[in-house]
Amino acid sequence: MSETLREVFGQAAIAARVAELGRDVSAAYAGQDVVLVGVLKGALPFMADLLRALDFCPELDFVRVASYGAGVAPGALRFLMDLETDIAGRHVLLVEDIVDTGRSLAYLLNMLKERNPASIKVCTLLDKPYRREVDVPVDFVGFSAPPVFLVGYGMDIGERLRRLPAVYELIQE
Ligand code: PRP
Ligand code: MN
Ligand code: MG
Repeated sequence: MSETLREVFGQAAIAARVAELGRDVSAAYAGQDVVLVGVLKGALPFMADLLRALDFCPELDFVRVASYGAGVAPGALRFLMDLETDIAGRHVLLVEDIVDTGRSLAYLLNMLKERNPASIKVCTLLDKPYRREVDVPVDFVGFSAPPVFLVGYGMDIGERLRRLPAVYELIQE
């Protein structure tokens, strides 16, 4: 089986959009105490770039949820790593690489809301709204993504290809 990569969002387009998102997020949280919560592993590159596009310094923390991959039945979710920060009374911005069915985010939003944050919002680089199985609010979106299998800029296939600096469609034949 051969794999071909077709670029969908290039490095320059991503950088320009992340800069805009940085301005939008900065404006939304002016003067507030914010915890940026990255959803590992896929959000890592986007979170690092978004962080540097902000005009304020949020606290950083991470959670890990895995829904696809080795040993996980389709639709099953594994919660693998919790925050170390107490988010009660604080403004939380969840950072995702992509929102697909919405199941990962729905799970995390439900769990984190019980800890009484001052607010909780979502920023994702990519969104596939037509794939939603659970309704989730997405407050900041980089791009609408086409209905193809995407890799790179944090997104993987079997843990491979996360390091690619742009977003590609993976074509397997
Ligand atoms: C991917 C992606 C999102 C989630 C989106 O993570 O990074 O977190 O799936 O899918 P959903 O909206 O259908 O829940 P994955 O489970 O592959 O883990 P990873 O980030 O470690 O690759
Ligand atoms: Mn993920
Ligand atoms: Mg993955």
